[in-house]
Amino acid sequence: MRCAVLTLFPDMVAPVLGQSILKRAQEKGLLDVTVKNLRDYTFDRHKTADDVPYGGGAGMVMKAEPVLQAVDALCASHPEAALRVIMPSPQGRPFTQALAQSLAKDDRLLVFVCGHYEGMDERVNVALCPEQISVGDYVLTGGELAALVMIDAAARLVPNVLGDAASAAEESFTEGLLEYPHYTRPAEVRGMAVPEVLVSGHHEVIRLWRRKEALRNTYLKRPDLLRDRELGSEDRRLLSEVMQESLVQVPVR
Ligand code: ADE
Repeated sequence: MRCAVLTLFPDMVAPVLGQSILKRAQEKGLLDVTVKNLRDYTFDRHKTADDVPYGGGAGMVMKAEPVLQAVDALCASHPEAALRVIMPSPQGRPFTQALAQSLAKDDRLLVFVCGHYEGMDERVNVALCPEQISVGDYVLTGGELAALVMIDAAARLVPNVLGDAASAAEESFTEGLLEYPHYTRPAEVRGMAVPEVLVSGHHEVIRLWRRKEALRNTYLKRPDLLRDRELGSEDRRLLSEVMQESLVQVPVR
């Protein structure tokens, strides 16, 4: 997976990429991210990257030319690569796991154009037709954190990025559902015991317990995820047990 992040604030981005799994993915050659400072594509003495809005009003607007120059420079330095230009924006289509999967699989150079301040000169949209993507219905100070969210969610889906190959496989087991609860040693923490079934050594019983708890989490916390899902017969049985168990017990007088 290859990305470039165009930003006025490279220090909001680069340190995050230098940690943990994203760092290792880059060391292993599975992920390549370059961070470009848009100020390096300004050509006046003061390196002006933003200006007051035409028509007046509060705030500053990012100038179009530094972004367009930076994209031109990427095209020149990656002559063999097609570009997929993404603009993080609260106006964009919602970022989902499916979109993360599509970024992870894309062999184009993923170019994240990060806006900051009040916004970006509209001619960037006209010239580049970026895919606008939102990471949620709230407004961030800029696109940098949103770009990192997308890179992180996509990179972990690139084969071999997750150290333990089982992590990804395990997750596909509960694809579209919330995860089941996890426990590690010791068996008792402040009087709270690990569920008996997990120390039973019965793989099939453990599998069923995990499946049921994933269904329970999803039913209780995100029932919308179950609404349009075709469930198999085992899931239907487990879910009906969950629903029975979550019925409020009204005392009968
Ligand atoms: N920039 C500001 N807010 C954003 C959001 N919610 N998603 C993506 N980019 C943003």
